[in-house]
Amino acid sequence: GVGLGKFLSETGLTTFDGGFVNTSACKSAITYIDGEAGILRYRGIPIEQLAERSNFIEVSYLLIYGELPTASELDAFTDRIRRHTLLHEDLKRFFDGFPRNAHPMPVLSSAVNALSAYYQDSLDPKDPEQVELSTVRLLAKLPTIAAYAYKKSVGQPFLYPDNSLSLVENFLRMTFGFPAEPYDMNPEIVKALDMLFVLHADHEQNCSTSTVRLVGSSQANLFTSISGGINALWGPLHGGANQAVLEMLDKIKEGGGDTTDFMNRVKNKEPGVKLMGFGHRVYKNYDPRAAIVKKTADTVLESLGVNDDLLDIAKGLEEVALNDDYFISRKLYPNVDFYTGLIYRAMGFPTRMFTVLFALGRLPGWIAHWQEMNADPSTKIGRPRQVYTGYTERDFAPLDQR
Ligand code: ACO
Repeated sequence: GVGLGKFLSETGLTTFDGGFVNTSACKSAITYIDGEAGILRYRGIPIEQLAERSNFIEVSYLLIYGELPTASELDAFTDRIRRHTLLHEDLKRFFDGFPRNAHPMPVLSSAVNALSAYYQDSLDPKDPEQVELSTVRLLAKLPTIAAYAYKKSVGQPFLYPDNSLSLVENFLRMTFGFPAEPYDMNPEIVKALDMLFVLHADHEQNCSTSTVRLVGSSQANLFTSISGGINALWGPLHGGANQAVLEMLDKIKEGGGDTTDFMNRVKNKEPGVKLMGFGHRVYKNYDPRAAIVKKTADTVLESLGVNDDLLDIAKGLEEVALNDDYFISRKLYPNVDFYTGLIYRAMGFPTRMFTVLFALGRLPGWIAHWQEMNADPSTKIGRPRQVYTGYTERDFAPLDQR
């Protein structure tokens, strides 16, 4: 089973820690989490302060460069990102190769990987100028790629970025706007989405970030490493949980809204039945991001005039869980994904775009970790050991003797 153990291998003693529950794979100065106390800080600054007083571009700078930018640094950074939002015209045709019903996550990761083919002048992980250029290109182009993945899925024309807009405004217009038609920007949505991106921007050595580090440890380029992270994020136990939560809430509603029956199935561990959006490897207390998101769900739905039964079902499930011994004894609390989907839905995003939104938010964290790893001269290629459980040795059997 999964657990800690020590084993003798041909090269000495190795430890076995399935799922890396107790294994640090790196040293990092980017994000601090105290899972028992429910604390999250980027570069030492509490997430609550950043969510309330900062914004996504500033937080991206903080994560990647280690300090809050001065006003002129922020202007220069913002301006640089603005000038790289366009996709190569040939890359736009790349989207045509996917079926209309494709999930936008593989489209996103494929297009990000394809950046390595289109932008060959920024692939060298050891050249600081190239790293800087690929960083800016990714931050600028991911919203464009994400919007095109959406447009492809609904069969609508792509919009070129409008660089008079902020990153989040631009993304919303490219996603929901139409060419030659003014887009009615809702400042409430812009503010809330920007804040949700801040909440998702980093979370130390989670599955996708560890993937980015592992791919990058072979000195693979930044685009390819991030593409690996996007794929890891897609799984329902990680970023895919935000889509899975909404699907779970929808099913409960379709079944008449009986939360008790659903919770009994969770507690009886029926195969495939989990309370999605609950539980976390590190938080054994309320996820501080979930606390902020829960409040935001109330304010955003109210200000958009959206009355969503699913929010009541979600709150009902949380109420049951917080008073139920199954969840209390296992320290299972809502994670960041439990309420985000309800906000995204109120903003007009289809369920399949939810994990794409997570990827947009997580990008600066992935980049910061990749850069931190590459800047450290003691970094070695990631290469875990194993505890071999197969045959010792046996002879090859010819085909007619098997
Ligand atoms: N619903 C019901 N039971 C759960 C849940 C859940 N959501 N999460 C954990 N448990 C139970 C497990 O069955 C296990 O019970 P046991 O001790 O009787 O065997 C116990 O709690 C411990 O859970 P593990 O799976 O061992 O915890 P782990 O740290 O490996 O997994 C994870 C963490 C993957 C997040 C898990 O809690 C889960 O699957 N949650 C649902 C998916 C989800 O919301 N993922 C998003 C994570 S946050 C993020 O990526 C943004």
